[in-house]
Order: sequence, then C-alpha cells, then structure tokens
Amino acid sequence: MANTRLYLAPLLLVAVVLLSSKTMAQPAAPAPGPAGPINLTAILEKGGQFTTFIHLLNITQVGAQVNIQVNSSSEGMTVFAPTDNAFQNLKPGTLNKLSSDEQVKLILYHVSPKFYSMDDLLSVSNPVRTQASGRDNGIYGLNFTGTANQVNVSTGYVETRVSNALRDKRPLAVYVVDMVLLPGEMFGEHKLSPVAPAPKSPASGVSDDDKSTKKAAAPSDKSGSGEMKVGLGFGLGLVVMCLKFLF
Ligand SMILES: *[C@@H]1O[C@H](CO)[C@@H](O)[C@H](O)[C@H]1NC(C)=O
Ligand SMILES: *[C@@H]1O[C@H](CO)[C@@H](O)[C@H](O)[C@H]1NC(C)=O
Ligand SMILES: *[C@@H]1O[C@H](CO)[C@@H](O)[C@H](O)[C@H]1NC(C)=O
Ligand SMILES: *[C@@H]1O[C@H](CO)[C@@H](O)[C@H](O)[C@H]1NC(C)=O
Ligand SMILES: *[C@@H]1O[C@H](CO)[C@@H](O)[C@H](O)[C@H]1NC(C)=O
Repeated sequence: MANTRLYLAPLLLVAVVLLSSKTMAQPAAPAPGPAGPINLTAILEKGGQFTTFIHLLNITQVGAQVNIQVNSSSEGMTVFAPTDNAFQNLKPGTLNKLSSDEQVKLILYHVSPKFYSMDDLLSVSNPVRTQASGRDNGIYGLNFTGTANQVNVSTGYVETRVSNALRDKRPLAVYVVDMVLLPGEMFGEHKLSPVAPAPKSPASGVSDDDKSTKKAAAPSDKSGSGEMKVGLGFGLGLVVMCLKFLF
C-alpha cells in the first residue's frame, strides 16, 4: 500500500505539470518555427509608410515590449498601425501637447493584448481591451463594427476603416489604419485629462482663468498609476514566459 503511494505521488505531479503546461500553451501557435523572433519594427519598415509610428514605438519603448510580449504571451497581440499620412493629418501640435506619459498611453492604445484575425474583429464583443486599458477593462477600449470584408474601428472620438494587414498570422496581427486612433478618454468630451485643445464652445464661456485652474488641478498621479498597471501587464507576461521555461 505504502509502495503504491510512493509511485502515485510522482505520477500525480507529472500529470499536474502536463495538464497545466497544456492549458497554458493551448492557444499558442504550433511552435514558432525556425524564423527568428518577431520584430514589429521590421514588419512596419517593410510596409514603407510608418516612419512616425516606428519612431513613436521606439521612443516610448512600446515596440520592444510588444516584441517581448508577443513572444511570451499565448494570447498573441494585435497592432493598429497609423500611416505617416495619418500623423500628418492630425491637427498641428496634437502630439506635442501630450505629456510623455500620455504619448506612451496613446501608443499603447494602438496595441491589443490578443491576436484578432479580420474575422475575429467582425464578431468580437465590444469594447476590446488595449494595452492602455491596464487592468481597467472599461477604459481605453476600441469598438469594432462592420460587414463582410470591411471592418471599422472606433475610439469614441474617431472612426476609421481597418485596412489591409501587414501581418495576419498568430501570434501577431498588424493592421493599417489611416487615422491615428485618438482615445476618447484623452480627446473626447469626457476626457480623463485636459490634454486636447479646449473645445471651441464660446457658449460655455471658458475663460483663460478656468483653463489654468483646470491645468493646475490635473491629477498628476493618474497616468502614473496607469503606467504601473501596464507594467504589471507586461510583468505578468514575463511570469508566464518563465513558467513556460520551467515546464
Ligand atoms: C528589428 O528590426 C529593426 C529594423 O530592421 C532593427 O533595427 C532592430 O535591430 C531589430 N530588433 C531586433 C531586436 O532584432
Ligand atoms: C530608438 O531610440 C534610441 C534612443 O532611445 C535611439 O538611440 C535609436 O537610434 C532609435 N532607433 C530608431 C530606429 O529610431
Ligand atoms: C522568445 O522566446 C524564446 C523561448 O520561448 C527565447 O529563446 C527567445 O530568446 C525569445 N526571444 C525574445 C526576443 O525574447
Ligand atoms: C463602444 O460601444 C459602446 C456601446 O456599444 C459604448 O458605450 C462605448 O462608449 C463605445 N466605446 C468606444 C471606444 O467607442
Ligand atoms: C467606416 O468609417 C468610415 C469613415 O472612416 C465611414 O465612411 C463608413 O461609413 C464606416 N463604415 C461602417 C460600416 O460603419
């Protein structure tokens, strides 16, 4: 009897390990294959019209984070890449008015921590989380609507078509968008932080005084905590990666 238990214990352990590694690796692609690690910058460079986005991915280090997370997460990722034209069409100064925290958030907003094929986007339940959502599912989401081969993405502030894919294989999808996805939370009426140019509504009688108090009252720790959540997200990715190594 005691002998059987001695045999059973390691067997059970093996079973648990197998089971847990199976569940964790389940949605992953059938082995990365011999191709080198996925490099978002290289994919975008091939596309030939993403200089600004590449630059922003680089200075915010979001690009490097995507490369790491796409390699470690079983969910994959989806990136919406605005063209250089899209950035040129922004109102002058739009990006410069953002703090560096907000710039990071804007770029994170173009990345979703899950792989979506075009078909997935047609049937996905809105809103879709982005890397800017952090743990707070309710904010910085994207809405997708469409029919057949045309999918639109909406931020609550802008809406545009999801055009062709630069890459559409797990674990990374990269879609071209011809507008910068300006989050409603940053630019819309109910923005969380006063970053956009004050809306032109003379009726509300916003004086210069009002503007400066608004600025002074900006919750300076707000984006900080957002960053922390994002960091946690990536940290979790790393933990999952370590677990994979273990099993
Ligand atoms: C990714 O590709 C870019 C452009 O081809 C290159 O400059 C960069 O070193 C690559 N990064 C990695 C981690 O290989
Ligand atoms: C990325 O940013 C670093 C500084 O953070 C800079 O040294 C490097 O040249 C940049 N690379 C590209 C491709 O812009
Ligand atoms: C990707 O993951 C593999 C193992 O899962 C590891 O060997 C490789 O170094 C990782 N690449 C990057 C760029 O993190
Ligand atoms: C997405 O749609 C829901 C309702 O369908 C709406 O409440 C929400 O504000 C929308 N969000 C965005 C980012 O468009
Ligand atoms: C998609 O968005 C474009 C504007 O970019 C609009 O003209 C078009 O009607 C939208 N399509 C759908 C199906 O909502």
